[in-house]
Amino acid sequence: MSVTADTLFHRAAAGLPCWIGDSDGSREQLPTARWMGGTASTPEDLRADQAMISRCTGPTIDLGCGPGRLTEALARRGVSALGVDSSKAAVDLTIGRGGNAVLKDLFEPLPETGNWSCVLLADGNIGIGGDPVRLLRRAADLLAPDGAVIAEVDAPSHHGIRNRTVRWETDTMVGDWFAWSSVSADATASIADAAGLQVVDVAPIDGRYFARMTLRSFTNS
Ligand SMILES: C[S@@+](CC[C@H](N)C(=O)[O-])C[C@H]1O[C@@H](n2cnc3c(N)ncnc32)[C@H](O)[C@@H]1O
Repeated sequence: MSVTADTLFHRAAAGLPCWIGDSDGSREQLPTARWMGGTASTPEDLRADQAMISRCTGPTIDLGCGPGRLTEALARRGVSALGVDSSKAAVDLTIGRGGNAVLKDLFEPLPETGNWSCVLLADGNIGIGGDPVRLLRRAADLLAPDGAVIAEVDAPSHHGIRNRTVRWETDTMVGDWFAWSSVSADATASIADAAGLQVVDVAPIDGRYFARMTLRSFTNS
């Protein structure tokens, strides 16, 4: 059986480890406990989540929401939030914890396109699909004119943008290869620019980096 995102989230919910394998032969354990949230979160995880959540001050769409810890946290604060994920297990977990979520590919038509105050790309989701400019263009479409994209990016590095071919793995099984990109903090401005966005700031929180981007045509007076 092939390892899919559904396998990953079923295992994460059961506290079992998963890895991301790279076609270069390397393999890293996934931070599934962080994605699940709750008691498994470290103080650093909670500070990073807080940094993202505090930047989402109006209706927020959480693209690639996974098990929905951020969608749920926003809803608990009274911020209207919608998770979007192509994994049924992820959407079920999000709804099960009290978040609102839809089972969709983020490139499909989505509700309230052009009206979201915040588009969240947490946990490196700027890399979904292996084409960060296309992904940020999609995020830009979803935004209200004065909205902002909040995206976690990698630490500044000479890699800039790293286009990768990866797969989900368990201790005994592997999934199909798919494209993913890693974007370093210092490469974010050029990608944002190509997508019609501008970087307002990049916040470093305990060694993780969160970029805030607004539409380039919007000037905050
Ligand atoms: C790195 S995980 C993100 C974890 C998540 N932010 C969390 O808090 O648990 C990437 C997520 O993106 C979802 N995903 C990948 N491609 C997608 C797409 N095209 N449309 C919607 N969701 C997608 C995966 O199913 C997975 O849940």
